[in-house]
Amino acid sequence: MPTSSATVAYVLCDGETIAAVGRMRELGRLDGEVEELDGSGLCAIPGLVDCHTHACFSGDRVEEFALRAAGATYEELHAAGGGIMATVRATRAAGEVALTDSVRTHRDWLLRAGTTTFESKSGYGLDRETELASLRAIRNVGGVPTWLGAHAVPPEFDDADAYLDFALAEVLPAAAKLAEAADVFLERGAFDAAQARRYLIACAAAGLALRLHGDQFTEQGAVELAAELGARSVDHLEATGEEGVAALAGSDVTGVLLPASALFLGRPMPPARALVDAGAAVALATDFNPGSAFCESLPLVCSLGATQLRLSPSEALGACTVNAAHVLGRASRLGRLAPGYAADLVLLDAPDWRYLAYHLGGDLVARVILGGVRAELG
Ligand code: NIG
Ligand code: FE
Repeated sequence: MPTSSATVAYVLCDGETIAAVGRMRELGRLDGEVEELDGSGLCAIPGLVDCHTHACFSGDRVEEFALRAAGATYEELHAAGGGIMATVRATRAAGEVALTDSVRTHRDWLLRAGTTTFESKSGYGLDRETELASLRAIRNVGGVPTWLGAHAVPPEFDDADAYLDFALAEVLPAAAKLAEAADVFLERGAFDAAQARRYLIACAAAGLALRLHGDQFTEQGAVELAAELGARSVDHLEATGEEGVAALAGSDVTGVLLPASALFLGRPMPPARALVDAGAAVALATDFNPGSAFCESLPLVCSLGATQLRLSPSEALGACTVNAAHVLGRASRLGRLAPGYAADLVLLDAPDWRYLAYHLGGDLVARVILGGVRAELG
């Protein structure tokens, strides 16, 4: 059980990998050239893993934000051709160079907040050229790319099925070579369960791992579909009821909770405590995007985890490190300070690692070590 009594510790890195960790007084003599980074007074945690972002977009939605503040709902704006489609228009117009610059900027914001590994979805192109450019941009700046080919139905198609005919025939073959996973927005006004099943089955056949946006506003069978198809995760779950909680707990699917999105949209929080108590694995992520969660801070998400989701500080930290790494298929390499793991660390300017969740909105990230090297935080 971790306590607040400080332990003076070392983390010995060999290139990009942790070679050993332990108490400073037990560190033996080191031969050869050793560079020492003194973290006295700071508190080391694993580099944070953000397993759900939409970091590849152009433009902003500040006008929409103001309209929402005046009473318009997210779903109304989406139905009126704003929301996601407003970002699709800006992203299609940007071009690959500008898109890559934008993902790089967002990566730097995430890094400043302590995120050393980020996943990012495409999904603001919804045409062949822009979806593939988005996946390349994400890869080129070091993100873990997910093809969110089924995010919304663009206006040039009559309906969701016609759009999926195109996306699966024309985009999937190339997207499967660039992405690691596929994702779908299973929701009223987006894709229904039959369409999501069709999309995900085709993506799995092309070799992609599966993710779903599910139960954000309404329950549409996302948890059951995720379990049936062996998805890595079902994400959001703000609307999940008791049966969904039980179904998720009885499956190997991780629930990815996005409390910054619920907060940003003024929506109910997901049933985190019920999920954990029922035995479900949960991860925390930012959902960073311009519409429903303009927030890149996993430390803030940890605070929301502890204050709104009733997770313990330890559950919150595990949810955005080791559990998030599991969602990205990287649990043997990321999310722990242990030999053989990536030398990705965050040093907090705090007397106790629990400050990560405790200091609401605090600027605690003093240093970030990425692949054994101190990162420039700008
Ligand atoms: O996870 N709900 C669907 N997709 C994103 C939001 C995208 C947007 O609003 O631009 C989400 O909340
Ligand atoms: Fe999302």
